[in-house]
Amino acid sequence: MPIHLVQHPLAQHYLTVLRDRRTEPPFFRQAARRLAYLLVAEATADLPTSPVEIETPLEGTVGAHLGKPIVVVAVFRAGLGLLDAALDLLPDARIGYAGVQRDEETAEPLEYYTKFPPMEDARVLILEPMLATGGSLSWATSKVKERGAVDVTAVCVVAAPVGVERMESEHPDTRIVAAALDRELDFHYFIRPGLGDMGDRLFGTV
Ligand code: URA
Repeated sequence: MPIHLVQHPLAQHYLTVLRDRRTEPPFFRQAARRLAYLLVAEATADLPTSPVEIETPLEGTVGAHLGKPIVVVAVFRAGLGLLDAALDLLPDARIGYAGVQRDEETAEPLEYYTKFPPMEDARVLILEPMLATGGSLSWATSKVKERGAVDVTAVCVVAAPVGVERMESEHPDTRIVAAALDRELDFHYFIRPGLGDMGDRLFGTV
């Protein structure tokens, strides 16, 4: 499976805060942001760097700057919960938005808005916290590839096996970074045990 699970204790701690039904939106947003730092760090762990000569207060030395541009694509709505942390770590990133709604009958994606920067030469991070059927992530991945992306990593909080399998079959070249691979999808296409509707919990729309 093209999935990398972040097992850092802090990631598991913040994931547990997100899973807990008692976590109210302000604390849910805070935990999502904190978990996102760890997920984005992992999603960029293999980025190339370029050497750069700098002066410390004491002497010259060679440091490293990021050697590749970054594009962050937030999939509405839940991806917005990871965006602030991604931009904190990657302030020069260009930002894309992918508006997709789940058809409640079929769980397939219905597109309503997209806006993407150029991305041919970039590491593209797609922020899609809940990888359920894989419909939205596969759709977003196809969209960024149509725009020239060749280096794509999905940043997820929780993934379901069926979504990972769909990504493996439709986009085997796309890496998935997640905090957990859960047991299954239920009949309403919710991930179990999951954390409920991520968008509702972020924005208090339950
Ligand atoms: N989207 C969510 O927000 N939660 C799920 O469990 C599945 C899809």
